[in-house]
Amino acid sequence: MFPTLPLVLLALSQWQSFIPQTYALNNGLAKTPPMGWNPYNFYAYGWNLFTAPLNDATEAVYNNTAKAIVNLGLDKLGYTIISLEAGWQGTTRDASGKFTWNTAKYPSGIPALGSFLHSLGLKLGVYSDAGFFSCDSSNGKDHWLGSLGHEAADAATFASWGMDYLKYDNCYAVNSTDFVNWAPPIPLEPHYTAMQNAIEATKRPIIFAICEWGVQDPARWAPAVGHSWRISNDIGPPASWANFFRIINQVVPITGFAGPGAWNDLDMLEVGNSPLTTAEQQTHFAFWAAAKSPLIISTNVINITSTTLSILRNERLIAVNQDPLGKSIALKRRYSNDNDVWAGPLSDGSTVVIVVNWQNVQRSLTLNLADVGFSSATLMDLWSGSSLGKFTNTYTATVPAHGNLALKLTGGTAAPKPSFTTYAAAAKQNIVAGGAQVATVNTTQVVGNIGSGGTLTFTGVDGGTAGGTKLVSIDFINADVAFRNSACSNCRNAFVSVNNGTAVQVQFPLSGQSWNIVYKGYLVSLSGFKAGTTNTVQFSNPATGVFGPNLVQIGVQK
Ligand SMILES: *[C@@H]1O[C@H](CO)[C@@H](O)[C@H](O)[C@H]1NC(C)=O
Ligand SMILES: *[C@@H]1O[C@H](CO)[C@@H](O)[C@H](O)[C@H]1NC(C)=O
Ligand SMILES: *[C@@H]1O[C@H](CO)[C@@H](O)[C@H](O)[C@H]1NC(C)=O
Ligand SMILES: *[C@@H]1O[C@H](CO)[C@@H](O)[C@H](O)[C@H]1NC(C)=O
Ligand SMILES: *[C@@H]1O[C@H](CO)[C@@H](O)[C@H](O)[C@H]1NC(C)=O
Repeated sequence: MFPTLPLVLLALSQWQSFIPQTYALNNGLAKTPPMGWNPYNFYAYGWNLFTAPLNDATEAVYNNTAKAIVNLGLDKLGYTIISLEAGWQGTTRDASGKFTWNTAKYPSGIPALGSFLHSLGLKLGVYSDAGFFSCDSSNGKDHWLGSLGHEAADAATFASWGMDYLKYDNCYAVNSTDFVNWAPPIPLEPHYTAMQNAIEATKRPIIFAICEWGVQDPARWAPAVGHSWRISNDIGPPASWANFFRIINQVVPITGFAGPGAWNDLDMLEVGNSPLTTAEQQTHFAFWAAAKSPLIISTNVINITSTTLSILRNERLIAVNQDPLGKSIALKRRYSNDNDVWAGPLSDGSTVVIVVNWQNVQRSLTLNLADVGFSSATLMDLWSGSSLGKFTNTYTATVPAHGNLALKLTGGTAAPKPSFTTYAAAAKQNIVAGGAQVATVNTTQVVGNIGSGGTLTFTGVDGGTAGGTKLVSIDFINADVAFRNSACSNCRNAFVSVNNGTAVQVQFPLSGQSWNIVYKGYLVSLSGFKAGTTNTVQFSNPATGVFGPNLVQIGVQK
């Protein structure tokens, strides 16, 4: 909703007690992720985000977009919800208190737009805000209408216009002068519950898309309130590869919350928008599809290119997104600065695997099948639909700069599961030095402040009878939530060294939004172990003021 924002660390304690039990809203809607179009990522430039207006999402744009979506067959693929976005609203209610629209931009009006969309077999998405005013791009000066305190009336009005989907934003949620608050002092969930209750009272089937930007850990309460929840700050505009990295680090701890009727919303698609390269757009699309994010096109479809269309129309990836099992891919293995391996199950018993090339060069990339649980499997390339054949242990392919592998694995043979000897970070025999500290978060003992000279050295680590290279499993906590990009957004770096050997950089994603949620089993392969039980494993980060995650324990492969 607004592009340039400070890095904020969340203080969740003030609202934690309001978190209800998590259960899916389960009212039969959005059994698979919603699909459609919203103007924001392309036409938002029209509201002076950066320079003079280039485009604006006027009635004419909606008319032509709706026609293009049908003419291009995108509706047949599932992209049916055509949404309004901030800027459609009026600034005052009418004499009877009803919501109004900007009549200059929408001369025929929103009810007419709704009828037009329905006549084409499309659906009307409305945008409103759980605050005193809506978001805007003039730093809160536009004061477009919000729905806080008007939920019942506004839901009834929007429903009477034919609303099928509501995106519900979060500006001015605290009070009428506080435009954007990343650590609001009030619980936001009641704002969203009030609107969900109002929607239910209309008796119209309406998909409810919660958009509180991930500030109050919505995955833990929003499944009971809406059909999707934004997990992060905006993906753009402008589009960037850094936004992709920030958002996927943020979804790591909550992939398990996605399910039929309840979706992690990774934000609208930047497919078609510069300056992302074609390969970056493909990686973004494959990842969003397999993470079961809503797929909301947000580019100019009136002038769409064949390249953009070929990405958005990939029927195999759309089928992965719309798979009835509704399980998201999860992070399986990160090779820091090299590649990520994510995978998840599909309803037909197969496995979808997405490999992301972090390197900005085209190169040969190898998937270790063991990273997704198999020693062998038959592979299909989801981009081309080609059967690749049966592979044992590894599959290697050339991948473009920031490109991806999107694979479907069938007939897999399970790989043997590694077993580990565990070592608690806070154990007495370890060396905690240079400012690092043993601490207790609830009942979890950790070592924190590793970095800026602080180190944790595990001693007495068993290298087995042969030593050499071993898989090391790391349990850690990193609740450092980022709403804008930094070198390591929603991640923390540590350097790990075995027996004083060369330190390896390890990039740890977010483990959750509070410091008591542990990420279990982050795997890294480390070399330099000796036979016997005198090995050391040291965690550090030499950079001043930069810290690795809190460490709970490590496991070293037996
Ligand atoms: C949009 O389409 C509707 C239905 O055909 C029409 O009534 C309206 O005038 C159109 N608006 C614009 C600005 O072209
Ligand atoms: C609005 O909220 C902000 C912080 O959330 C607070 O600093 C400010 O005083 C509040 N203003 C009013 C008028 O209540
Ligand atoms: C489509 O592209 C042409 C040529 O680049 C441009 O003149 C026109 O304004 C574009 N139309 C829209 C609706 O963006
Ligand atoms: C690592 O270096 C430290 C300090 O230089 C030394 O005390 C320790 O014995 C070394 N450990 C190993 C396993 O070589
Ligand atoms: C400790 O755990 C309890 C129960 O899960 C939770 O309510 C509380 O917020 C936690 N405290 C901290 C500091 O994380």
